[in-house]
Amino acid sequence: MLKNIIAPSILSADFSKLGQEVRLIEDAGADWIHVDVMDGHFVPNITIGPAVVSSIRPATKLPLDVHLMIKNPGKYIESFAKAGSDIITFHSEIEEDPREVIKLIKYYNKKAGISIKPKTGIGAIEKLLPMVDMVLVMTVEPGFAGQNFIMDCLPKIENLRKIFKKDIEVDGGINEETAIDCRKSGANALVAGSYVFGAKDYSAAIKNLRGGA
Ligand code: DX5
Ligand code: ZN
Repeated sequence: MLKNIIAPSILSADFSKLGQEVRLIEDAGADWIHVDVMDGHFVPNITIGPAVVSSIRPATKLPLDVHLMIKNPGKYIESFAKAGSDIITFHSEIEEDPREVIKLIKYYNKKAGISIKPKTGIGAIEKLLPMVDMVLVMTVEPGFAGQNFIMDCLPKIENLRKIFKKDIEVDGGINEETAIDCRKSGANALVAGSYVFGAKDYSAAIKNLRGGA
């Protein structure tokens, strides 16, 4: 039975007090800490790197769920692994051979995730499914927090759930309404940035996302 996971994305946290924010969402009931890494090449935004992962590592016992929206993830697996990541997810749309990147993540004994953008079909990752621990289905175009959920991604989640029995994570535009849609479609791990960090009460926001589940 898969656990219902809430993974707040620190992309929407107050970066001037990141350690405190991480402790607050752990106390508020988060399951994972989602870390959105962007390089300004794979996506038109730049965020954080391994140094920030290692600086927040001591602040929480929760798994660090690192989402690499970067062009050459293979070059950075070692540094993100040694920084304390627990799950390392990269995108199927990269030029490198995804099988080599997955093997490298496993070499460092981390969980391997593969992510697909809204316009990428599950056919692009079908052959990789036996190798990975998680699939991250983007429900917005990667790059920025606070975007609207793309409803057309729901059938993709349903079709993926029919052939993939491990963790399916969704990321982008997740709030209490879209969380219900995603869970109904078969996702069990929800990333939420602006909905959680935009709330006055983090634990109420996380409870709303769980919707009693
Ligand atoms: C997109 C980012 C965002 C972030 C979540 O590249 O990955 O999806 O995690 O942002 P919200 O929850 O604000 O859409
Ligand atoms: Zn993400």
